[in-house]
Amino acid sequence: MTIRLAIVGLGKIARDQHLQAIEATDGIDLVAVASRNATLEGVPSFNDIGELLSSGVAVDAVSLCTPPQGRFAQAKAALDAGKHVMLEKPPGATIAEVRALEALSKESGLTLYKTWHSREASAVAPARKLLSERHIVSVTVEWKEDVRHWHPGQAWIWEPGGLGVFDPGINALSIVTKIMPESFHLTAADLFFPANRAAPIAANLSFESESGIPLKAEFDWRQTGPQTWDIRVETEEGPVVLTHGGSRLVVDGEERLVDEDREYRNLYRNFVSLVAEGRSDTDFSPLVHVADAFMLGRRHVVEAFED
Ligand SMILES: NC(=O)c1ccc[n+]([C@@H]2O[C@H](COP(=O)([O-])OP(=O)(O)OC[C@H]3O[C@@H](n4cnc5c(N)ncnc54)[C@H](OP(=O)(O)O)[C@@H]3O)[C@@H](O)[C@H]2O)c1
Repeated sequence: MTIRLAIVGLGKIARDQHLQAIEATDGIDLVAVASRNATLEGVPSFNDIGELLSSGVAVDAVSLCTPPQGRFAQAKAALDAGKHVMLEKPPGATIAEVRALEALSKESGLTLYKTWHSREASAVAPARKLLSERHIVSVTVEWKEDVRHWHPGQAWIWEPGGLGVFDPGINALSIVTKIMPESFHLTAADLFFPANRAAPIAANLSFESESGIPLKAEFDWRQTGPQTWDIRVETEEGPVVLTHGGSRLVVDGEERLVDEDREYRNLYRNFVSLVAEGRSDTDFSPLVHVADAFMLGRRHVVEAFED
């Protein structure tokens, strides 16, 4: 069976990644779009998910590419209408709502896929395997980028629930939660809020694993020039380093892997398999760490930010 899919929220990520990935994936076809301000030529387009679901266009699944605030109502509407659901990261604006969606999908027997695209970066699976065989000493994350370049004029990202610098930072946490052989928890956090914004522009985080391994993360949106998306794991056997957002792997100083970007194609391939097997993937552990940072973090006010 080919999944008849609708995209909700035809914005930056839907156009940058989702459309091409769906096109390249067997077993899934784009049959509709719901977006208030955008349409797609040759595809039935609706204003919002309500209009789409009552339109009579046959749809099996929806992929939500809207910002996290408001995602719950859209996902609930889709599940209530008997549709499988794929969620962009982060899966929602609160922990309680993502848990509620999980319960709803279980009750209905529909597939719910909380995606983490960075986990599909090519260095992640080999790093996970390597680290399961080594003795980890420490983990250091540096995720530093220029917000003006990557998120120009995105108002929602600075609003409550938009996560600020955790919008990219959660990608790093999605990788670390995948490659670490044991769980870890936040012990301290400093969050830096521009005087005129509701979300942080930078964050320094300290974690500790079950067995006492220290993990540090620095997220910063004020980095101009070269961008840094690195995770460095010191092990007794030598360093394991993921760079370029997890697309390159350097083991004991030697580059092991430079691969093409298949993150979103992997996500859609996973979704097709989950639907075929009647399963869900609802891990939201990266969001728990971000919620903890807002709960435990010390707030610092820094220079106002203008786009
Ligand atoms: N940008 C990236 O590089 C990137 C990468 C990976 C993941 N993501 C994730 O993908 C999600 C969307 O990000 P994006 O960069 O694509 O954002 P975006 O372009 O600002 O928003 C996507 C679309 O959602 C709709 N939308 C915006 N605000 C809405 C609201 N309040 N209610 C309903 N619909 C709304 C808009 O379409 P209409 O106005 O036409 O309705 C908009 O074009 C986020 O969770 C983000 O973390 C983004």
